Amino acid sequence: YFAKMIFHLLIYNLILQIALSEPNNYSFPENFIFGVATASYQIEGGWNEGGRTESTWDYQLHKNPDLIVDKSNGDVACDSYHKWKEDVQLIKNLGVNFYRFSISWSRILPQGFKGSEINQEGVTYYNDLIDELVSKGIEPYVTIFHWDTPQALESQGGWLNESIIDDYTYYARVLFTLYGDRVKTWITFNEFHQICEEGYGLAKKAPFENLTGVADYQCGHQALLAHSRAYRIYEQEFKPIQGGNVGVVIDSVYGAPKTDSELDKNAAELQMQFDFGWFFNPIVYGNYPQVMIDRIDELSKREGYNTSRLPKFSDNEIETMKGSFDFLGLNHYTTNLCTLIGSNNFPNPSHARDCSVETSADPSWKPSAASWLWYVPWGMRDVLVWIKEHYNNPPVLITENGWATRGKRLNDTDRIEYIQNYLSEVLKAIYEDNCNVLGYTAWSLMDNFEWTRGYTEKFGLVHVDFNDPNRTRTPRQSYSFYQEIVRTRRLVN
Ligand code: NOJ
Repeated sequence: YFAKMIFHLLIYNLILQIALSEPNNYSFPENFIFGVATASYQIEGGWNEGGRTESTWDYQLHKNPDLIVDKSNGDVACDSYHKWKEDVQLIKNLGVNFYRFSISWSRILPQGFKGSEINQEGVTYYNDLIDELVSKGIEPYVTIFHWDTPQALESQGGWLNESIIDDYTYYARVLFTLYGDRVKTWITFNEFHQICEEGYGLAKKAPFENLTGVADYQCGHQALLAHSRAYRIYEQEFKPIQGGNVGVVIDSVYGAPKTDSELDKNAAELQMQFDFGWFFNPIVYGNYPQVMIDRIDELSKREGYNTSRLPKFSDNEIETMKGSFDFLGLNHYTTNLCTLIGSNNFPNPSHARDCSVETSADPSWKPSAASWLWYVPWGMRDVLVWIKEHYNNPPVLITENGWATRGKRLNDTDRIEYIQNYLSEVLKAIYEDNCNVLGYTAWSLMDNFEWTRGYTEKFGLVHVDFNDPNRTRTPRQSYSFYQEIVRTRRLVN
């Protein structure tokens, strides 16, 4: 009897699993758009060519190669500084609607700061790239800042110095002026969370500082203000003439409750507020989530600070910030399980402790080559629904989603499965939950410099040979697979 029951259970489980992994039959809505993404420091190389100066990444990695697992850096990367035409051809053949790339601040403004001289060679590089894209019918989607702060500004305190707000808005205005006739979709920042928490709190990204619970909040504060001012500049001075849109990219590891208990549900909610709400709440509602304000106030008092470690916005700033986005760019890759930890762990200030949530992965989830990335397709749907419910169903463009592998492997069936089933969840979110999803972007067009993981983790639809001076590009199976989805506008059965 038991053997029979176990057998039935196994069969039942198998059927369930097949049913769950079957892609659905929805077609992508008519206006749904597809793209691929990259970022300047990760692909360009040409670090000292054409008048470009060092960014924080160049500076830190030239000084200390040990910061990166394989001691590599972005000096040459994919050499897109020279091979951009080939990149555009790959994008063209893929058939996507848009290419999301970022501009290197220190290529345009080698000295970085407000009022400093514009570097014509840098301007030309992006003019050529943009013209080539437009001539091939690919829309340029430009990320204004994807982590490569000019070192000239970092040496003045970078994102901890409020003067960077003026430097950034000057830079943004220069870009709107130079390229706004052809670029109609702008992204102010890519992932505040990584810039600030990892850059100034946990020392995992340039400038590799570690004042967690203080510097990360200060950085976030300046970056949010810089974002909102750039948004208003475009809205008032450029939008009436150029007619484009300005969005912002926020990353979200979806925080799911570890169990069904109310405590874990609260933990997941707290995690989402401290992680995602930290940035999106101000942009939608004008201020940090109330729960963040209250907790950090309280903790700061107990720790003997005179004022909260979380800076405060003035009434004017709140007004400028509120509603400062035309679309949310969502970078989503994976999910974490959340549970509460004891909240009396002082005195060291720490962002993680401010939140008191412990995150983990379910042991059954399939790991990727990246330590933080597990295959959890349902998290995509859940995060979209969470956003819809908390921010009144804003327009969301998925600006990054992708899977990490190792080595050359061209038959990347795991990446194919990932894209297929994450997209299947996007379709469910659209048709079954009425989420306002504008489109999807695969990260990345090609293998590139994966920050502290160097060239060891590959996210590319296209393989790049980093041992070959030509940086030969070879499309993987996932490239053809994505091409087919874009062509048929439905998932492959
Ligand atoms: C997010 C970042 O925007 C991108 O630069 C990075 O390479 C991918 N995630 C993968 O980690």
